Amino acid sequence: MKVAVLTGGGDCPGLNAVIRAVVRRAAEHGFEMMGLRDGWKGLLEDNHFRLTRETTSGILHRGGTILGTSRVNPFKVENGLERVKRAVERNGIHAVIAIGGEGTLSAATRMSQEGLRIVGVPKTIDNDINATDFTFGFDTAVEIATQAIDRLHSTAESHKRVIVCEVMGRHVGWIATYSGIAGGADVILVPEIPADLPKVAEHIQRRHASGRTFSIVVVAEGTRIKTSEDPSEHLVTTGALDEAGRPRLGGVGNIVAQEIERRTGFETRVSVLGHIQRGGAPTPHDRVLATRYGVHACDMVARGEFGKMAALRGNDIVSVDLSDATRELKRVPKEFFEVAQVFFG
Ligand code: F6P
Repeated sequence: MKVAVLTGGGDCPGLNAVIRAVVRRAAEHGFEMMGLRDGWKGLLEDNHFRLTRETTSGILHRGGTILGTSRVNPFKVENGLERVKRAVERNGIHAVIAIGGEGTLSAATRMSQEGLRIVGVPKTIDNDINATDFTFGFDTAVEIATQAIDRLHSTAESHKRVIVCEVMGRHVGWIATYSGIAGGADVILVPEIPADLPKVAEHIQRRHASGRTFSIVVVAEGTRIKTSEDPSEHLVTTGALDEAGRPRLGGVGNIVAQEIERRTGFETRVSVLGHIQRGGAPTPHDRVLATRYGVHACDMVARGEFGKMAALRGNDIVSVDLSDATRELKRVPKEFFEVAQVFFG
């Protein structure tokens, strides 16, 4: 039985660990494994190669994906669905394991509704996939962001400055909230709550009035703000669009820093972590989670559990409906964020 695997959307530490686990388990089930290049594009363009124990050896700890990735959505491409169906038939593919985030898994959900045999694996550093406690890659991103905040602390303290650290998080503030709590941030701004910059400035002023000489502000890239130049609530974008046609985010940290300096008079700097959070080796936690997801996804194919996604519930890996996973995004709950707020100002 031939089984194809693809990685779609932004890359993420742990992708290779999933691919390796899928291939190793596939050998036990007697599946022949095929790697699709660059996400759904691999089917649209019939671009793939054989995955074996040899071609997937030594990749457990490596960042990125040996399959390549893209944000191409087959439903937004002319005759995309037909082209995918034809490639599946022509190559005798029994099932597709789609490893991806919101975009890739939404396409996977529709593909499965169109009759293809699909199994999903939840990937994203943003941790915004519903129906799973955690996606792999998130722990690594939080580790990197926390280390960065620790480093910013010592330089902020020495220079008596405010430092704003911009982290990823397009729709949700999981990375900002986790790394902010772990790094002892004095203010955390997330997409779930539009930023109130005058209030942020007050927090910082109150903190400095009580004897502190520096402050750390963590802001997720997808946080909506209002400024004197643009008083409507807005996202900060580069003006360009990504491959999926979404506005490219970036720059909110700079604007937050300018507003803080203008309102408080404290010298303020900004540090944008960007893709550093997505690159490089996964943490041991993510390697284990990714490995468990890969083994489970392969077993799902063997059991004929299609239209489903491997998910983490507590400490168990379970199978959930893809439609539940992609119905809505998993946002930071209010009660969780309130823990972070205890330490503001
Ligand atoms: O993978 C999700 C994400 O990390 C978002 O937080 C971010 O907006 C996006 O990727 C940026 O990805 P790229 O620059 O590769 O388009």
